[in-house]
Amino acid sequence: MEFLLFTFVGVVHLLSLSSGKPIYKNDISRRTFQEIKEEIASYGDVAKAIIDLAVYGKAQNRSYERLALLVDTVGPRPSGSRSLEKAIQIMYQNLREDGLENVHLEPVKIPHWERGEESAVMLEPRIHRMAILGLGSSIGTPPEGITAEVLVVTSFEELQRRAPEARGKIVVYNQPYVNYSTTVQYRVQGAVEAAKVGALASLIRSVASFSIYSPHTGIQEYQDGVPKIPTACITVEDAEMMSRMASRGNRIVIQLKMGAKNYPDADSFNTVAEIIGSKYPEQVVLVSGHLDSWDVGQGAMDDGGGAFISWEALSLIKDLGLRPKRTLRLVLWTAEEQGGVGAFQYYLLHQANVSNYSLVMESDLGTFLPSGLQFTGSDEARAIVEEVMRLLQPVNVTRVFRAGEGTDINFWIQAGVPGASLLDDLYRYFSFHHSDGDTMTALDPKQMNVAAAVWAVVSYVIADMEEMLPRS
Ligand SMILES: *[C@@H]1O[C@H](CO)[C@@H](O)[C@H](O)[C@H]1NC(C)=O
Ligand SMILES: *[C@@H]1O[C@H](CO)[C@@H](O)[C@H](O)[C@H]1NC(C)=O
Ligand SMILES: *[C@@H]1O[C@H](CO)[C@@H](O)[C@H](O)[C@H]1NC(C)=O
Ligand SMILES: *[C@@H]1O[C@H](CO)[C@@H](O)[C@H](O)[C@H]1NC(C)=O
Ligand SMILES: *[C@@H]1O[C@H](CO)[C@@H](O)[C@H](O)[C@H]1NC(C)=O
Ligand SMILES: [Zn+2]
Repeated sequence: MEFLLFTFVGVVHLLSLSSGKPIYKNDISRRTFQEIKEEIASYGDVAKAIIDLAVYGKAQNRSYERLALLVDTVGPRPSGSRSLEKAIQIMYQNLREDGLENVHLEPVKIPHWERGEESAVMLEPRIHRMAILGLGSSIGTPPEGITAEVLVVTSFEELQRRAPEARGKIVVYNQPYVNYSTTVQYRVQGAVEAAKVGALASLIRSVASFSIYSPHTGIQEYQDGVPKIPTACITVEDAEMMSRMASRGNRIVIQLKMGAKNYPDADSFNTVAEIIGSKYPEQVVLVSGHLDSWDVGQGAMDDGGGAFISWEALSLIKDLGLRPKRTLRLVLWTAEEQGGVGAFQYYLLHQANVSNYSLVMESDLGTFLPSGLQFTGSDEARAIVEEVMRLLQPVNVTRVFRAGEGTDINFWIQAGVPGASLLDDLYRYFSFHHSDGDTMTALDPKQMNVAAAVWAVVSYVIADMEEMLPRS
């Protein structure tokens, strides 16, 4: 997962959702909400069949095992790397061998950055070799490194206040972790803000909910007209220690060396597969996760899990011999971590058909035991999704939260398409996120079974209902 864009579409007219009133504003079918509820309830047996297959039956642990094979084979899959290219080719084969339809690759140009060798050594007040991870798109240092005194701040406001002290120094941010969307601003903007006040480099406390001395990388952004300075993340432990040292009046000196380099854009692909709709093949329910990852760990959780439960959703539906009325389209995005590069290309290419997307779904917040679905859309659509989630009572995942989102589906949500994302244990997710700890060991096959069942039931039922989800 990369940025969180908050998109609240909807909350407009409040039609009565009680029985007897038409639910659609420009109601063609004159169906009442009661009739829609009954239609959804009629999927009870299908939902049970999906759950049985995914959680108790032949398909149990399949998404976990398929993912383990991929990530053990190719490892992490950063944008522009050979391993991402290899993963895309393997997935193309996998989806064909799985018997899915219209399996194809859609070309995209993507950024190519490599971290190279990197190190940070505290020279004063004592020698201490620190764990760091350069941030995506950062420039490197000169070969001899940058050796400078440190200014520790806990916020952008403090940096502004102490701007005269920052010139010629390495700025260390020790911002507290509030939540991802708020705290990630330090990772994304930290270098730019430090450069504006004359710093030589910036080191940013990892944006993580938990740490056992783990640096967590991610993308950062330079700004036109502001000097580019090298930037890396450090551990929560080192950020806090330097903060304590500074408050004692210690002079802190660090030598930072980074071999990071940006290369010309690389060729890549979004990977697409379908179960073509039986009645409205032009209409689409999109199910997705991203295949790229950071260059540390295995990219198993972010976003191997999301990509593979999305594939699993189509596999389960196909295995049961089901074919929804609308097309179920699986998209495995490329270069999400660089800010949804593959997804933006897909949106440009397909936006002419925006009126025929009933729902866009992305799982990129973990595939642990789901707490429920996050949803963005009209109140009418939400009421329908709430009914669909009742079908998941057998696995006790029935809640519908606000703010469905995902870097890769936000383009569509902003264009008015209802959007859904899988929500689970965010504390756990941001413990492993973008770190060497993001491996298969962080995942649990049984939890992935439930996540896949939720994903399959929601996507199938919405794709098969008589009407598309109503919009605002
Ligand atoms: C699925 O994984 C769980 C947890 O590792 C294990 O206990 C169970 O035996 C596995 N089921 C199958 C069918 O392999
Ligand atoms: C994150 O924290 C900020 C600041 O407290 C708050 O305004 C925002 O709603 C929070 N976002 C989420 C997704 O919880
Ligand atoms: C848009 O939908 C039409 C069918 O309604 C289809 O023929 C066309 O290929 C679609 N375009 C894209 C770019 O997906
Ligand atoms: C949307 O789908 C309908 C029928 O399913 C089709 O007639 C229409 O041309 C499609 N619209 C676009 C923009 O492709
Ligand atoms: C079902 O999930 C809710 C949270 O959504 C939880 O509070 C409750 O304990 C769960 N019930 C069972 C039987 O697991
Ligand atoms: Zn991700």
